[in-house]
Amino acid sequence: MADKQAKLELGGESHDFPVLEGTCGPDVVDIRKMYGTTGKFTYDPGYKSTASCESALTYIDGQEGVLLHRGYPIGQLAEKSSFMEVSYLLLNGELPSSDELDDFTYTITRHTMLHDQMRQFYQGFRRDAHPMAIMCGVVGALSAFYHDSTDISDPEHRKISSHRLIAKMPTIAAMAYKYSVGQPFLYPDNSLSYTGNFLRMTFGVPAEEYEVIPEVESAMDKIFILHADHEQNASTSTVRLAGSSGANPFACISAGIACLWGPAHGGANEAALNMLREIGTPDRIPHYIERAKDKNDPFRLMGFGHRVYKNYDPRAAVMQKTVREVFEALNVKDPVFETALQLEEIALNDDYFREKKLFPNVDFYSGIILSAIGFPTTMFTALFALARTVGWVAQWNEMISDPGQVIGRPRQLYTGPTQRDYVPLDQR
Ligand code: CMC
Repeated sequence: MADKQAKLELGGESHDFPVLEGTCGPDVVDIRKMYGTTGKFTYDPGYKSTASCESALTYIDGQEGVLLHRGYPIGQLAEKSSFMEVSYLLLNGELPSSDELDDFTYTITRHTMLHDQMRQFYQGFRRDAHPMAIMCGVVGALSAFYHDSTDISDPEHRKISSHRLIAKMPTIAAMAYKYSVGQPFLYPDNSLSYTGNFLRMTFGVPAEEYEVIPEVESAMDKIFILHADHEQNASTSTVRLAGSSGANPFACISAGIACLWGPAHGGANEAALNMLREIGTPDRIPHYIERAKDKNDPFRLMGFGHRVYKNYDPRAAVMQKTVREVFEALNVKDPVFETALQLEEIALNDDYFREKKLFPNVDFYSGIILSAIGFPTTMFTALFALARTVGWVAQWNEMISDPGQVIGRPRQLYTGPTQRDYVPLDQR
């Protein structure tokens, strides 16, 4: 029996529920037996007060603006680590030794190629298809090509399919880009790093040698680290819910990609840059601030606000610094960065945003960097999906390995008609 109990008074009866403690963060009231003992459900649309699972991967303290992966602060990981190392950490729980990192990187590198028949999949899409539409389709279709790793009860199968997903996402995303611009697909070059290989497959052409710019490679790798995992967000919860039915990992990750696409989630990076370009010059900011505050106007400041962070998103701080590094390395300037900095300052000093604790999130600055590197806005969310794949597979593995795992099945508060008799068509 848990030490702490929560008491619920219902219709004159008192019911006790255990209160469970994590290693950090709020305790949770375990209401799993509530329906059985009280005949009542809880009501929490959007899961604002619901912990849907136990997890040892990522911790967020939204009030303090803290994000930890397996205990390590995101700022330290972004500055000192690499995406391959963070991937290993998320999947295995500890930082790798040098040999473990080499082995892991070698394994991922050896899975970067895509079944050649999958190239034909791309031809079925219109040239102007959104890369996220292609990603949903192609990643889901992987299950038709890699049957040998879809037995989810076998830990070895789970490991191979996880490695395949992490390794093939850059190839799939780069091919989506190449298809949209009408250039030939490039095969992976396994002499390059994970990130360098992705940049070459995206921007290289067969006729010329592609030179990876180290500063761009490092910035891109940082962006991947910043997006690697984020606790039980909408797309991760989608992956878990899909996986809870026993669906294969490729289908689950495809479901996660579909959820990520929305502008309230991963699609916000595309929407944020489009918004900044629409604002254009700093003198137009006040007009957009007023629109964002107007209840009758659906406009919101994209890249601002977060369900969990009620403080500065620590990922946005790293992003802002990385913009400067990329501009310097590429010797570019984009006036939209000045607009973004001023917009941030005006919003942070505005009562509406202060009272509602709305701060820049990861998506506010990421688009400016990606655009400077050369990505069209439509690719932004695909890059988010590429990086988040490691978080999705780590969360999915954690769930499947949990012996207490059951199918996710929420209930509802029904507000439709009560039972009534069918009326034949000629009597209506
Ligand atoms: N601009 C203006 N007002 C806002 C904004 C915004 N960006 N975000 C929230 N608000 C207001 C909202 O109108 C509401 O006001 P009131 O209480 O008067 O009704 C209040 O703040 C709380 O907002 P909410 O929508 O109830 O909060 P939520 O936790 O359900 O939504 C959010 C969080 C991220 C969907 C929302 O802040 C938003 O739409 N932001 C813009 C989209 C965005 O940048 N999304 C990326 C999130 S980070 C990356 C990721 O996780 O994918």
